[in-house]
Amino acid sequence: MVLRLRPYRAEDEAAALAAHEALLVDDFHFLLGWDDTMAWSDFLQALDDQRRGLNLSETQVRAVQLAAVVGGELVGRASVRFELNGFLATTGGHIGYAVTPAHRRKGYAAEILRQALVVVRAEGVDRVLVTCSENNAGSRRVIESCGGTFQSSVPLEAGQSLCRDGGKGVRRYWIE
Ligand SMILES: CC(C)(COP(=O)(O)OP(=O)(O)OC[C@H]1O[C@@H](n2cnc3c(N)ncnc32)[C@H](O)[C@@H]1OP(=O)(O)O)[C@@H](O)C(=O)NCCC(=O)NCCS
Repeated sequence: MVLRLRPYRAEDEAAALAAHEALLVDDFHFLLGWDDTMAWSDFLQALDDQRRGLNLSETQVRAVQLAAVVGGELVGRASVRFELNGFLATTGGHIGYAVTPAHRRKGYAAEILRQALVVVRAEGVDRVLVTCSENNAGSRRVIESCGGTFQSSVPLEAGQSLCRDGGKGVRRYWIE
């Protein structure tokens, strides 16, 4: 399998928006910070700013969002945060990932996490926090297969959600 993580490009718009729509059904945001009043070019600019730590809102940290591509097709994404704020330190973690429904159970999420670990470590993060909903058996398996050591379960606070799987808690893992 040759899966590449790379920045989104102008030509990714249709596939990325389709993936975003597909995952919204489960209350999961494929494109973080996207809203449908935006132009795709403005979204790309906002991602580039966030990569460089520019124009960050109070809730943002320096981070990259990367397309996961296999044979030219968008199959998933990674969100790699280079710092933790309050929400990320308890619930969100350093790395988030998703695979589009058509491409699941092919090992792509585990490969995305493996490559995202290289990206975050290249920025000096040694201990990497990765989390999943307590009901997300697939994500749990992905994290454990990448060497995650379970640290704790914490309850989701009111209004927080990792995705619509009914989980009321978050499993927190460290990958050294
Ligand atoms: C969870 C998700 C990322 C898994 O993606 P995937 O590409 O299908 O996962 P992989 O093919 O890499 O599977 C890795 C392991 O998890 C297992 N797995 C995957 N989905 C599973 C599921 N629904 N139930 C049980 N095990 C599952 C695989 O069998 C594999 O196990 P193995 O290591 O023993 O072979 C994907 O379903 C998804 O994007 N869901 C919505 C978004 C999401 O939940 N993101 C994570 C937020 S914490």
